[in-house]
Amino acid sequence: MIERYPEAPTFLAAEAALAAPYRRAGCGRPGTAAHLTRAVTPAGHPGRLRLGGMAVQMAPSILASDFARLADEAAAVSGVADWLHVDVMDNHFVPNLTLGLPVVEALLKHAGLPLDCHLMIEDPDRWAPAYAEAGAGNVTIHAEAARSPVRTLRMIRSAGARAGLGINPATPVEPLADLLPEIDMLLLMTVEPGFGGQPFLDMVLPKLRRARELVSKRGAAVWLQVDGGVSEDTIERCADAGADVFVAGSAVYGADDPAAAVQALRGQAQRATAHASWPD
Ligand code: DX5
Ligand code: ZN
Repeated sequence: MIERYPEAPTFLAAEAALAAPYRRAGCGRPGTAAHLTRAVTPAGHPGRLRLGGMAVQMAPSILASDFARLADEAAAVSGVADWLHVDVMDNHFVPNLTLGLPVVEALLKHAGLPLDCHLMIEDPDRWAPAYAEAGAGNVTIHAEAARSPVRTLRMIRSAGARAGLGINPATPVEPLADLLPEIDMLLLMTVEPGFGGQPFLDMVLPKLRRARELVSKRGAAVWLQVDGGVSEDTIERCADAGADVFVAGSAVYGADDPAAAVQALRGQAQRATAHASWPD
């Protein structure tokens, strides 16, 4: 009998799931659990605008919310957002410590919308599958931290979640081109990861344009997410450069009315997307 690691009870289960037939996340992936349905069809709220297959998606980051009232803070945006972005930081990959799997498991019961777990941790190969097994709709690992990204991304998908790959501002996108078939979302950090409320880094925008071209050229069904400093001042530049999933922490939870802030940001992104020049 194989003994499980007590501190990672779901690791071996995710590993075993790799043997199951490969199922493409977000493209008709069969699923029975509610979180799978939500992951495949995020939000689908009436305000969504489809533009040649592209749709703007909003992912408020609870990093900027009141951690003592997480369920209420999630509920404040659940009717208007597509995802709840959850920043997991381990004080090693980034110089900050936030929350981990137990809090994510608790949030899953109360969030009211799919969780987009952004793992800013060392050794995501070891820990990421458990977030997918717990029911996260998307699990993003960082390219700088993963030692076996292909295996880990496949394990995330096999466990029923969308697989995201994140890159820091200084990490180039071109060497990752061959990984596109393995991922459902590419996260381009527009600040150095670790803290909310930092100024947006415009230097990432050319890379975002190149990422959009790469995705189009390869015909990949990969969402492009921007995270960090996304606000009413910067979201249009992101949409124009090719982003379609927008994380916003301070701009949402720093506002008097978080739901209204999400709607306003979405409107800006949709209008900018409609005029964007990138290929679809
Ligand atoms: C930063 C996190 C972000 C953060 C963004 O490392 O990954 O998700 O919450 O916060 P704002 O939107 O305030 O820059
Ligand atoms: Zn994040």
